[in-house]
Amino acid sequence: MDKAAAIKRIKELRALINYHNRRYYQLDAPEISDVEYDRLMKELIELEERFPQIDVSESPSQRVGAAPLDKFSTISHLTPMLSLANAFSEQDILDFDERIKRFLGTDEKIAFVVEPKLDGTAVNLIYEKGAFTVGATRGDGTVGEDVTQNLRTIDSIPLRMKKSKDSPMPERIEIRGEVYIEIDSFKKLNKRRLKEGEQPFANPRNAAAGSLRQLDSKITARRPLEIFCYGIGLVAGKTFKRHWDVLQTLSRWGFMVNPHVKQAKDIHECIEYYHHIDKIRAELPYEIDGVVIKVDDIEIQERLGAVSRSPRWAIACKFAATQATTIIEKIEVQVGRTGVLTPVAIMKPVRVGGVTVSRATLHNMDEIEKKDIRIGDTVIIQRAGDVIPEVVKVIVSTGNRPEREFVMPDTCPDPGCRSKVVRLEGEKAYRCINIACPAQIREHIAHFASRGGMDIEGLGDKLVAQLVDTKLIRDPADIYFLKKENLLNLERMAERSATNLLAAIEQSKTPPLEKFLYALGIRHVGEHMARVLARSFKTLEVLMTATEDDLLAIRDIGPEVASSITGFFGEQSNRKVIEKFRKAGVKPVEKSHPKDARLAGKSFVFTGTLGRLTRNEAKEIVESLGASATESVTKTTDYVVAGESPGSKIEKARASGIKIIDEKEFLKLTGRK
Ligand code: IVH
Repeated sequence: MDKAAAIKRIKELRALINYHNRRYYQLDAPEISDVEYDRLMKELIELEERFPQIDVSESPSQRVGAAPLDKFSTISHLTPMLSLANAFSEQDILDFDERIKRFLGTDEKIAFVVEPKLDGTAVNLIYEKGAFTVGATRGDGTVGEDVTQNLRTIDSIPLRMKKSKDSPMPERIEIRGEVYIEIDSFKKLNKRRLKEGEQPFANPRNAAAGSLRQLDSKITARRPLEIFCYGIGLVAGKTFKRHWDVLQTLSRWGFMVNPHVKQAKDIHECIEYYHHIDKIRAELPYEIDGVVIKVDDIEIQERLGAVSRSPRWAIACKFAATQATTIIEKIEVQVGRTGVLTPVAIMKPVRVGGVTVSRATLHNMDEIEKKDIRIGDTVIIQRAGDVIPEVVKVIVSTGNRPEREFVMPDTCPDPGCRSKVVRLEGEKAYRCINIACPAQIREHIAHFASRGGMDIEGLGDKLVAQLVDTKLIRDPADIYFLKKENLLNLERMAERSATNLLAAIEQSKTPPLEKFLYALGIRHVGEHMARVLARSFKTLEVLMTATEDDLLAIRDIGPEVASSITGFFGEQSNRKVIEKFRKAGVKPVEKSHPKDARLAGKSFVFTGTLGRLTRNEAKEIVESLGASATESVTKTTDYVVAGESPGSKIEKARASGIKIIDEKEFLKLTGRK
């Protein structure tokens, strides 16, 4: 193969792999098997090695995630990462301006740059001769953790800085930014975690920080992390006059800079900006907790310097959170499908951010102890960006502390179980480990029959509870042995509904293998993993005989997942249930995957209301043509389709020079008109 042919093939391979990455990681809907994917990647890597003169810095071969680490090593930042002093009111902001003037001994107006304050986790990225070399968390501001491998998986972090005529590349530079997760992606991620029997993240910030600190970068690669860059640390070989130039230059070099950053000619414009951003806050796709005001002139910044780890030239102006005060009336304990006990605060109903809230998850016992939450406490709760309400803290008025400390029950709260509760080593969660626990069985069977699983119409949570409580079913396979006369004995069950239910059960006997595997409720096997398993092993019988090594050979299956799967199929009681399925005539089938690829590899983002199509119809069109629709605008977005009153995605698209089309153009492009 000559160089021209290699360039052509490399281009094709990169586009294909980017497309399949998006299907796999972001949409959870892969179209090719792991084996095929690996073949593409291998071909690409081999070609790139044979033609080293072809630039690999933008190649998907550089973002695959490396081997897991035992622990992170630490890294000293080249210049410290300072933190910001806070302002909570207009007066605080005016005082900040006054302090600066006093320090400088001037009466002249100070010019500022104002920026949204993202609520994520801070990182420091080092680029040498334009190449991303090392990335670290903030840590204590001086020393952070080396999370380079994980940062490399984030699409919006350039592996190589873009060349810019006006801004020559510095020899070495530290770029600072905030890694975050958009609210929609956060909700999806939590849904997925719940389905996989894992604890959801409390808020997008925790999700971002937790995802970034994964020892296995393949896990980070599956998390929808993004970044906005807001500053620099050490720079060698370049100077800046204004912070505004820094932001503009970062953007030219290919870094994401928040489209809402703005120059302000004096402190009054900053205050206006603060109110403006507070107003549009709810429309932003990510969480912010305030705005940052920074002196624009860098020479003045240097004169002002820092005091106790915060610069004098910048301040964080925090918004009042959507918080409310209420009383915890009791704490209930819920038993999940995997036996995990989750404490839930039942509170006096209160309105927060436009909705009435009476329940808040307390996550786990550690969280309760850390916040010292007791029954009867007056607490501040908050709804951050309309996610699950959480208890922020207890309001303590001295000498007035309720006595009733919450203790995790030592027996399962389900009246039909009451077996001993344990806390397994190394786990936060308390669990009921009785496999016959009715609460777990109910949850387990309800999961089995649910929409994402076997999708048995009419078999909802209430009916499952009745069937389990009357001992008509003990495991999911028993569903297939139900008789009409059993059903008719149940409360509120008429002839007609019994007939319909039996028909729905009968219909569910040939499920796609992936649905069946998901329905089994194996720990760590959510919908995505179930698809991976179905595609790789094709039949249940083959999967059941797979060894841990067989499983580990598959991309995206780590040791924990592998041992959970072999553990599940190795368990005698599980094998018995599967044998029962077979006897009942339940036969999972592996389906084939048709595809058409007119717009293969293209990525669409929709914003605003479309006139002729619903969002879902538009997405279906896109997917039927081999393209994908994602929630947020990134560097890899090809088209943003703007409907009526589009959101901030438009600005992001404009800022990154992404093609924006309207619905008409979209219909034309997809051949619908
Ligand atoms: S400037 C010396 N700008 O807020 C300047 N920080 O306490 C230091 N943050 O953890 C930071 N958005 O990660 C700056 N536009 C922004 C920011 C921002 C979020 C975070 C930052 C740090 C904390 C500051």
